[in-house]
Amino acid sequence: MTTTFPFIATLVSFLLPLVAAYGYNNLEITSWCGQTPHPESCNYFLANSQYYSGPVIKQKPDFFKALLKVTLERAQHAESNTRGLGPRCRNKLEKAAWDYCIELYQHTVERLNMTVDPHKPCNQYEKQTWLSTALTNLETCRAGFQELGVDGYMLPLMNNNVSSLISNTLAMNKEGGSPPDDYQKGFPTWVKPGDRKLLQSSKPEASQQANVGGGSTT
Ligand SMILES: *[C@@H]1O[C@H](CO)[C@@H](O)[C@H](O)[C@H]1NC(C)=O
Ligand SMILES: *[C@@H]1O[C@H](CO)[C@@H](O)[C@H](O)[C@H]1NC(C)=O
Repeated sequence: MTTTFPFIATLVSFLLPLVAAYGYNNLEITSWCGQTPHPESCNYFLANSQYYSGPVIKQKPDFFKALLKVTLERAQHAESNTRGLGPRCRNKLEKAAWDYCIELYQHTVERLNMTVDPHKPCNQYEKQTWLSTALTNLETCRAGFQELGVDGYMLPLMNNNVSSLISNTLAMNKEGGSPPDDYQKGFPTWVKPGDRKLLQSSKPEASQQANVGGGSTT
């Protein structure tokens, strides 16, 4: 018993500075990152003050915001890195694929920026659209090099973790928040009212629901 106290005291004095420096949130960040498809890149960029220097992450919504912020910053960094690689192109094909990628990286940054723009808040569904467009742009860039058969040299130089980060934000956006409000009476809002009637007439349950929604009594 007498030897236990000094041991615990040593342990506490060793752990306290760690807790003071990071708060308890680093453990939570690790656990939230564990719910993403690429936990390594999530942890790598969020737990590192070199990459993430935003507001303290306390709750899961803070975590999602931080993830978006870090993703946008990494995408900007990747864009300028890609631009700088121009002189490394060794032939016309590499130059063509690179040119296209510059444009695609620029679009990626623009789309990611739309998910964090405080002047134009967007809902969860819109965020999902911008994020998946951003991801598609990066995939198209890669595919461009592959289709021209010149993916061996330039692509490794353009290596970054932006696609993983975007996949992570896509996954977290899907999980958090309320479901998109784009379904009315069982049909997406993009189905025109006329078409809806047509579809409803061939779908007994839906038309029943529509009647209930319209307030008719039976
Ligand atoms: C990508 O993330 C890994 C950790 O998952 C890290 O080791 C690596 O340095 C990162 N690469 C770049 C280019 O940032
Ligand atoms: C993001 O958008 C805002 C306003 O729409 C603009 O001021 C800012 O420069 C943009 N940032 C990037 C990285 O594109």
